[in-house]
Amino acid sequence: MIRHAPWQAPPYDFAIGLRTIPEEAWLEGGAAEAGRKTALLNTEPDCVWGEIPCSQAGQSEVLSLVEAATGRKGDPSLRPLWAAGLLCADDLCLMEKTDGAWRLTAASLCSPTFFTVAEALGKSLDDLHGPVPAFAQRFLPRVARMFDALSPGPVLERSNWTVTASGEAYLPASAPVRASLQDVPLDQAGERLFLRVERQTLRKLPQTGAVLFTIRAWRNPLNALKDDPVRLAAFAAAWRGASDDFRAYKGLASYDVLVEAFLARQ
Ligand code: HEM
Repeated sequence: MIRHAPWQAPPYDFAIGLRTIPEEAWLEGGAAEAGRKTALLNTEPDCVWGEIPCSQAGQSEVLSLVEAATGRKGDPSLRPLWAAGLLCADDLCLMEKTDGAWRLTAASLCSPTFFTVAEALGKSLDDLHGPVPAFAQRFLPRVARMFDALSPGPVLERSNWTVTASGEAYLPASAPVRASLQDVPLDQAGERLFLRVERQTLRKLPQTGAVLFTIRAWRNPLNALKDDPVRLAAFAAAWRGASDDFRAYKGLASYDVLVEAFLARQ
C-alpha cells in the first residue's frame, strides 16, 4: 500500500509544497526501528549521528515532544536526540539559527536519501541545498522566512519522490545504487525498482525556538502501483513530464529504460 503519492500533483518540478497537518498526525508510527538504528550507530557512527555542543537544550526539547507523542520514555543514558530517534521510525534533524542562518545542529539520520550527517552537520539551509538546482534563488528566501515565522503549535508536512534500485532504508550514497541498475533485467523492473517517498515535517520548538525537521522514507516496489490505476497513470505522467532540472538532479535518465519497460507491461 502506497501511503504518500507526491508525484500525483503537477507541476512535475521542485516545490516547497508545505501544508498544515493535525498534531496527532505528526509521527506516522510503524515498525519499531530501534534495533536497526542502534546497529547503524555501531557500524556507521559519523554517517547516522552528530551534534554540535550548543544543541543540548533543543535536543532535550525534541525528546520531550517525541516521548509525549509516542507515550514511551527515551533512554536517559543516551544523547537526547538519539534517544528520541530510537522511539520512532522517523529521522530527526534539529535546526537552529546562528549567525543569521538556520543550521543543522544535531541529527539522527538512519534512512537518508544520498547524504550523511558527516556531510551535513553545521551546514546552513543554503549549503545543505547546494546541489538542488537554483534552490538559493527559487526557494531559500521563502524557506528561511518560514523558519523564522513558524510558531510553536502548527505541524507542517511536505513530501518528495524519486525512484531507486534499492528498497533499503539506509542509502547514504547514490553511486552504488545506480551501479546496481545494470543487474536489473527488464522484466524485473516492477520488483527491483522502488518508489522512494520522503515524508517530511517541520515544527517549531516552544522553549528554544529551534525547528525540528523529520524525515520518513517510505519505499514501495513499482509493482505496488499495479493495484491503483489512478496512481499508475499519474506516475507515468510525472515520469514523462518531469522538468529537465528535476530529472537531471534525481538521475532519472539512468532508470528510463527500466521504468518504461515496467509501464509498457501494465
Ligand atoms: C521547508 C523546508 C525545506 C524545503 C522546502 C526543502 C526542499 C528541498 C528540495 C526541493 C530538495 C530536492 C529534493 C526534493 O525534495 O525533491 C531538497 C533536498 C535536500 N534537503 Fe531540503 N528542504 C527543506 C528543509 C530541509 C532541512 C531542514 C534539511 C536539513 C537536513 C534539508 C536537507 C536536504 C538535503 C540534504 C537534501 C539533498 C541535497 C543533495 O542532493 O545533496 N532540507 N530539499
